[in-house]
Amino acid sequence: MKSILEKVVKMNKKYTKDGKVASYIPELAIADASHLGVCISDGNEMFCSGDSNVKFTLQSVSKSLVLILALMDHGEEKVFEKVGKEPTGDPFNSIIRLETYKKQKPYNPMINAGAIAIAGLVKGETVEVRVQRILKFVQQIAHNAGIGLNQAVFRSERDTGHRNRSIAHFLKDIGNIEGDPDEVLQVYFSQCSIEIDCRDLSNMAMVLALDGKSHITGEQLFPARFAKIAKAYMTTCGMYDGSGEFAIKVGIPAKSGVGGGILAVVPNRYGIGVFGPALDEKGNSIAGLKILETLSEDYNFNIF
Ligand code: DON
Repeated sequence: MKSILEKVVKMNKKYTKDGKVASYIPELAIADASHLGVCISDGNEMFCSGDSNVKFTLQSVSKSLVLILALMDHGEEKVFEKVGKEPTGDPFNSIIRLETYKKQKPYNPMINAGAIAIAGLVKGETVEVRVQRILKFVQQIAHNAGIGLNQAVFRSERDTGHRNRSIAHFLKDIGNIEGDPDEVLQVYFSQCSIEIDCRDLSNMAMVLALDGKSHITGEQLFPARFAKIAKAYMTTCGMYDGSGEFAIKVGIPAKSGVGGGILAVVPNRYGIGVFGPALDEKGNSIAGLKILETLSEDYNFNIF
């Protein structure tokens, strides 16, 4: 597996030149566009290649994880009061549908509006407590107690996140957010700035592959039902307006982030973490997608 991964990274490295690092959050613009790395866990062993130990921020990958935490905090009924179950086919930061939200809620928790609604559900007396609970949950499923926040990325997004601010305040206006929208944004910006590497993504993906069970300790870390909900959303909306094409080309649940990460799950088989900060126009890692396409063909990942 290791030598195949080396080959796959080498073969797809050229695509990093076709993408651009995210620059709308200034601190992300300093990323090295040529980085490309991958780790795959089969539950027993982990195989890595390329820039797999370079750190980057979770960004939107956090949306699928915080969704699980919100489900654990409140159960399905309350969560589905706040977000719908349908894809939009719109970009991740779209505001064009805000006025058309049926029953006063965003279409799904993978687009920013839905993820901000979900961030508003995380339990905790203060913002600090809520952020620490998210961080602890991520550390637990990544099996890495050393994971922390990148404060520079947090500040950079907080200071420039005007579109997300407008979304949060709109959600407050329609009664979707119950607390203070500025506090909810602090939670959302914090979850996005959690710093991980491909190894962490791969471990988290493996836990999802096993429906919430740790491949390392055997412990059930969250209910299987919530893993299935997260994977269903990842399959239908995890790559935003690229989700349909990804389902056809790769055919597995996955979630991307503008930091360049993709968490990809081959149910019952593999947990994959990919990192390549050069993005396509939809905000997905351009060479990361190619790596997943190659691996899917070689190892017959497609769940369909
Ligand atoms: O809300 C934002 O704009 C970022 N913190 C996260 C966006 C993101 O990762 C979209 N994914 N590709």
